[in-house]
Amino acid sequence: MKPCSDLQSLSHPLFDQYQIQVQIKRDDLIHPIISGNKWRKLKYNIEHIKQQHHQGIVSFGGSYSNHIHALAYAGHYKQFNTIGIIRGEPHYANNYTLQCAQKWGMKLIFVDRKTYRKRHETSYLAQLQQQFPNYFIVPEGGSNHLALPGVSEVCQELEAQTEFDTLITPVGSAGTLSGLILGDQGKHQLLGVAVLKQAQYLVNEINQFIGHHAQLTNWQLLTDYHGGGYGKFSSGDLSALKAFSEQTAIPFEPIYSGKMIVALLDLIKKNTFPAGHRIVLLHTGGLQGLHGLVEQQRIKADEWPLPPELPVQ
Ligand SMILES: Cc1ncc(COP(=O)(O)O)c(C=O)c1O
Repeated sequence: MKPCSDLQSLSHPLFDQYQIQVQIKRDDLIHPIISGNKWRKLKYNIEHIKQQHHQGIVSFGGSYSNHIHALAYAGHYKQFNTIGIIRGEPHYANNYTLQCAQKWGMKLIFVDRKTYRKRHETSYLAQLQQQFPNYFIVPEGGSNHLALPGVSEVCQELEAQTEFDTLITPVGSAGTLSGLILGDQGKHQLLGVAVLKQAQYLVNEINQFIGHHAQLTNWQLLTDYHGGGYGKFSSGDLSALKAFSEQTAIPFEPIYSGKMIVALLDLIKKNTFPAGHRIVLLHTGGLQGLHGLVEQQRIKADEWPLPPELPVQ
């Protein structure tokens, strides 16, 4: 695990035209599997279960979930059991993400959409806890209060690495943005790009996460860049992302980091940032998801840099 992720400068004609400086925090390079915000969010959850002598972690995810993929590897690597409650039918067990998860020892339990919707309900969680008594239950996306200090460490690293005005991150379950808000302590503008449709409800989630730090109002959730909804993207956005990826020599995927890039380019073109503005993008990883997009024939394998598979050691 890399102790501190690299920060790299990006060059792009648009940045020159608008005199914007853009750097990217390469959390995708923290580890080949537990990359991006995954390691940040899991770090203190793992410390907690080790201290409390829990047998393992139960968590939730869709059938191509980056979180499930990373959690399964973390369990294998740090020697604890993992159980994934997966939304969808058992045949998804053959996809890349879940094949990896099983290879790393995760037990998969497939549930229908109705059951999956209960994942935040106290009675359903109590029932799961009864079923798996010595396990720690971690919510979908790994976003709980123990995820926040891990994500906050991004801000401490940045403090030592650079000076900047705005930090941008993609937002799914909002643990990452919430951790950044707490870590940043009001010093910079923080922009979260929601990847889900109708994501306004996440503002409440974020307020709950940041709790009594409600005085920290230097953040904004951008809800217009979902591209049609979670997992959806237009062919235009996909081509723009591919071009950006080639231009900057940084690998991206269209579900999370891709939407952040689409938002960045649009915001720059709309003159949102004054000349001389210094932006940092957080690369939250998720590149394993490209395998699933190839399997679903939504992207072509030879056009996207697929991350290599790691042997089980
Ligand atoms: C690659 C990637 N980026 C960003 C996010 C969004 O993070 P969060 O769910 O903490 O908002 C996720 C989901 O966890 C993700 O898998």
